Formats: sequence, structure tokens, C-alpha cells
Amino acid sequence: MRKKIVAGNWKMNKTLQEGVALATELKNILAAEKPNCEVIIGTPFIHLATVSELLKDSVIAVSAENCANKESGAYTGEVSAAMVKSTGAEYVILGHSERREYYNETPEILKEKVNLALANGLKVIFCIGESLEQREANQQEAVCKAELAGSVFHLTPEQWKNIVIAYEPIWAIGTGKTATADQAEEIHAFIRKCVADVYGAQAADDTTILYGGSCKASNAPELFGKPDIDGGLIGGASLKAPDFKGIIDAWK
Ligand code: PGA
Repeated sequence: MRKKIVAGNWKMNKTLQEGVALATELKNILAAEKPNCEVIIGTPFIHLATVSELLKDSVIAVSAENCANKESGAYTGEVSAAMVKSTGAEYVILGHSERREYYNETPEILKEKVNLALANGLKVIFCIGESLEQREANQQEAVCKAELAGSVFHLTPEQWKNIVIAYEPIWAIGTGKTATADQAEEIHAFIRKCVADVYGAQAADDTTILYGGSCKASNAPELFGKPDIDGGLIGGASLKAPDFKGIIDAWK
């Protein structure tokens, strides 16, 4: 049975103190009421060590939102996969459309990042998804397939076990426009078929595929009710503990 996951992506929000306060609040809420899914929070680099320590004995896992495509050395300002791992973080989000668009992360760069993340013992939440223009031209399947082929389909079956896919239509991120549950299910089923074509039916069945893009407590139950939607990658609604908890509760 594949894992159900609700993962937060704080993006560039929260000072260290604010992040610690949010993580503490979530830890307390989820200690009182055990979640029915795996819960991950993705934080900026500067929070990772403190938040990982804080959540050490909790049900919440910690993720970075990026890592470098180089192993180590003279890359001023970069943070390596080994450094992320050394904080106690278990995951790294890679391929987010904001990184692709604003920081020019190409499929080739992302492939290097994925390889380094896995080599350093991190699990990867790999994001894919089409723009509005591509959706209007009905290219969503081709775009998703190409993004997978470009950065993760070279992995061995053993490595693949550490990959979580997040389908995030760019037109739904932070816009309040969610894909309908049927729209999301259609492409999730297609993504699972692409995985099956490369890694076989069993591996595809075991792969967790998250939906992301204006997911909130009010639409999560319908989205997560679809057979190929295994949870969510949550931006805006992960910044307040009650909002995030509302989404986690969709698995109840
Ligand atoms: P959103 O962001 O939930 O604020 O739309 C999702 C994401 O970008 O991961």
C-alpha cells in the first residue's frame, strides 16, 4: 500500500522564530490527535536544523525546499544535499515550478539535484505540472511526461522507491483556482501509467502522487477521495496550523 502524505511547503515565509512557533504548534496538535497519513513540513534552509531537532520524536518529518546541483566546494550561497541531510531533514522538494521559472532550473540541473539528494540519503518530492497556456493547448500529459523523463526516469527501481511525485498545475498554485478533482484524477492516473511503463505496475501502484495548487481543508476531501490522489503538497494553507490540520483531517 502506498503512503498517504500531506506535505507543507512554506516557501520563503516565516522567520526562524515564527517557523519554530508554527512547528511547535503542529507538533502539539498532532501529538494530541494522531494523523492518518504521513505529515511533512518543507521549510527554508535556515529552519531545518532547529525544526528537525524540535520534531525529532514527533510524527512530522522535515523537508528542504531545494538543494544544490553540486556536491561541495566553491559555490557561494548554495546548500548541498549532504548539508540538508546533516540537519536531520529526510526529504527535499525538487522541481517546483517556482524554481524552474524564477531560477532557471532545467531538467538537466534537476536531474543532478535528484541524483545528489538520493546519493545523500534524502527522499525527493519531485514536482511536475503544466502552465495555463499548456493546459489550454491540452499539452498537460506531454509536459508531465517530459518533466519525468527529463529528471527522474533514469533512476534505478531501487532509487525510485525514494521518489514522491507532486502534480502541481502552475495555474492553480497560489491562485485560488484548484483543478477539479476529476481534472486532477485524470492526470494523476496518467502519471501513474507513465511510471508503470518505466518501472512496472507494482512500482507504479506503490508510488505516492500528491496534488498541489490551492489545496485547502474545504477541497481536500474531494481531491483525496480520488483513487490516484495520495495526498497534497500545500503552500499557503500550510502556514497556519489549523488550516494545515484541516487538510490532514481529510484522511480521517
Ligand atoms: P499553494 O501552493 O497551495 O499556495 O497553491 C502549492 C505549492 O506551490 O506547493
